[in-house]
Amino acid sequence: MHLSDPVRNKYRDAWSKFATGVTVITTVEPDGSIHGMTASSVTSVSIDPPLVLAVIGETRQTHTYIGNTGRFGMSILNENQSDIAMHFADPQKNFSQLDASFVANMSGIPIIAKAIAAMGCRVIAAHKAGDHTVFIGEVESIQLDDGNPLVWFQREFVGLSGSSVSADRDV
Ligand SMILES: Cc1cc2nc3c(=O)[nH]c(=O)nc-3n(C[C@H](O)[C@H](O)[C@H](O)COP(=O)(O)O)c2cc1C
Repeated sequence: MHLSDPVRNKYRDAWSKFATGVTVITTVEPDGSIHGMTASSVTSVSIDPPLVLAVIGETRQTHTYIGNTGRFGMSILNENQSDIAMHFADPQKNFSQLDASFVANMSGIPIIAKAIAAMGCRVIAAHKAGDHTVFIGEVESIQLDDGNPLVWFQREFVGLSGSSVSADRDV
């Protein structure tokens, strides 16, 4: 079933009410450079073994790179990292445009430095669902840091208090 534009917009509006944390999914491009994509459709799936899922649109560059490498990093952003979230929500922008201090390496998997939590994951399953793929990753390494999370609510980045930390964005 394909949605008409009004129903599609209503669907998007409904999900804009679902407040989430914000992650950056990091992968490696064929030439070895690091790639990042802002993602909020992620969750924990299992504790033993530790499994996470990330829902990635099949037109995303990240979709191709995760398919190629079978690995990804998932960094949960600090509330002061909305600039990084905006940066990696733009497919034209890449790591080379950022200061090198924004990236860290965890057991060979790139992550975002100073994220409040980061996990290195190995893909164990990929399920196509509509125009997205649900990638299930087994967590192989974990790093924690202090701080409050960045929150995505009604197409806006906010802090835990609900105060805006950046301008609106149409996604
Ligand atoms: C807050 C926020 C959350 C997002 N979550 C996702 C997501 O979970 N999955 C997805 O495929 N795209 C998501 N996007 C859109 C991607 O970040 C965006 O399309 C990105 O440019 C894709 O990058 P790539 O093509 O370089 O991989 C999100 C965007 C924003 C602003």
